[in-house]
Amino acid sequence: MSADANRKTVLITGTSSGIGLAAAERLATAGYRVFGTVRREQDAGPLERAGGEPVLMDVTDAESIEAARHVVEQRLDGRPLAGLINNAGIATGGPWELVPLERVRSLFDVNFFGVVAVTKAFLPALRAARARIVMISSISGRLAGPFMGPYASSKFALEAFSDSLRRELAPHGVEIVVIQPGPITTPIWAKAREQASHRLERGVYEAALSEFQRQVERAVQTALPASDVAEEALRALEARRPPTRLLVAHKATLLRLFSFLPDRWMDRLISARWRR
Ligand SMILES: NC(=O)c1ccc[n+]([C@@H]2O[C@H](COP(=O)([O-])OP(=O)(O)OC[C@H]3O[C@@H](n4cnc5c(N)ncnc54)[C@H](OP(=O)(O)O)[C@@H]3O)[C@@H](O)[C@H]2O)c1
Repeated sequence: MSADANRKTVLITGTSSGIGLAAAERLATAGYRVFGTVRREQDAGPLERAGGEPVLMDVTDAESIEAARHVVEQRLDGRPLAGLINNAGIATGGPWELVPLERVRSLFDVNFFGVVAVTKAFLPALRAARARIVMISSISGRLAGPFMGPYASSKFALEAFSDSLRRELAPHGVEIVVIQPGPITTPIWAKAREQASHRLERGVYEAALSEFQRQVERAVQTALPASDVAEEALRALEARRPPTRLLVAHKATLLRLFSFLPDRWMDRLISARWRR
């Protein structure tokens, strides 16, 4: 019998860097067999060094997802798939008035439709194994701040998908756990900055956007390490009765309380930050 036969297997999307790579490393260390998806073969090095096995997949490409499903099924060779971590994601921000609709669609293609497509592709195997599905949402899946609209919308959609899926699959023994990280140190910030620099006109939002960028820079400086999210991903897979949502952020208790405030109070709290 091969060494793989006794190990629980998990599939993680987007493991070339950041949270996905950290989760692959943490789960491999904990004894899991980890299939990690990358879009390009040349990006597989860090994952392999972390103990994961690369699988090529672009979550926006149906054929690529189907090919990856086939590869995973073959490598599993009849053994169960114990978990799926939907992590692959991108970030796009900006004022609704200025963000091109095409960019919003591309964002949803990865952060929402990509997650739905991957989950659907692996669902028969996950249901048969009474597996866990972990969604990497965001604090922006709880609170939609100004200039975070497109990203927050994609994560709110992911939250609704997760809630309905959890209720559908509970009778089948499949648990869905949503992880909501606050700012985490990963390359996603640099990638988002790179995209933002291509935006031409800032129009009437110039001053507010400059303040927003200052706030983002502050958030980046105090961001938590990706290993904190990886630890919660392990907990989501292993807890006997996992929480439906895991918030990974500074001042998590305060953030939870915000959910109970009336909208107008939240509006005032947020706008007060801009005046400071
Ligand atoms: N960092 C934060 O502060 C933070 C906070 C809350 C939530 N999150 C969420 O955490 C998740 C991981 O982000 P991260 O911060 O770790 O960023 P990251 O380091 O940029 O990682 C994103 C991963 O997603 C992959 N990806 C992007 N588009 C893809 C596609 N079309 N198909 C397949 N894979 C794709 C990337 O692959 P390539 O290298 O090929 O692009 C990369 O492996 C995202 O869902 C993000 O929204 C992050």
